[in-house]
Amino acid sequence: MIPPPVRPPLPSDDPRWKLVNATMRRHGYAGHALIETLHSVQDAFGYLDEVSLRFVAASLDLPLSKVYGVATFYHVFTLKPPGRHACVVCMGTACYIKNSTALLDGLKARFGLGPGETSEDGALSVLNARCVGACGLAPAVVLDGEVLGKQTPETLLARLEGLIHAS
Ligand code: FES
Repeated sequence: MIPPPVRPPLPSDDPRWKLVNATMRRHGYAGHALIETLHSVQDAFGYLDEVSLRFVAASLDLPLSKVYGVATFYHVFTLKPPGRHACVVCMGTACYIKNSTALLDGLKARFGLGPGETSEDGALSVLNARCVGACGLAPAVVLDGEVLGKQTPETLLARLEGLIHAS
């Protein structure tokens, strides 16, 4: 009889690790769960650090190099702590057709930030994604976890100004 594989302990008591673990368990700790698991870590913690990448690699029985490779290949993942506010502009096909590029241009013009960049004061991170699953609301943005649909540079910048000045 093959003994059950030994899973690494959760890195800490932080309950967010249970969410990450649940994602892996749902997929039977199979290697193909890697991307979904990294999304789960990033959703829970805001970024992927070395502790999380080692934990995921050990749990899914994948080489750490592969996990780092995937984490650094996709721009949706970040290895750095994000700013206090994270603005993810969707650049998937539906959003691209509805001119999501103008949203990124507006962010660049107003804050000087491109995808993957965080303002020096740590207030804002700009990220982009392939499709955030809200194509009917294109162009869509995910701002601090909330989906904002049918955005224009004006609506998005107004929302961000309000948020940043309030924090
Ligand atoms: S392409 Fe933007 S939400 Fe699907």
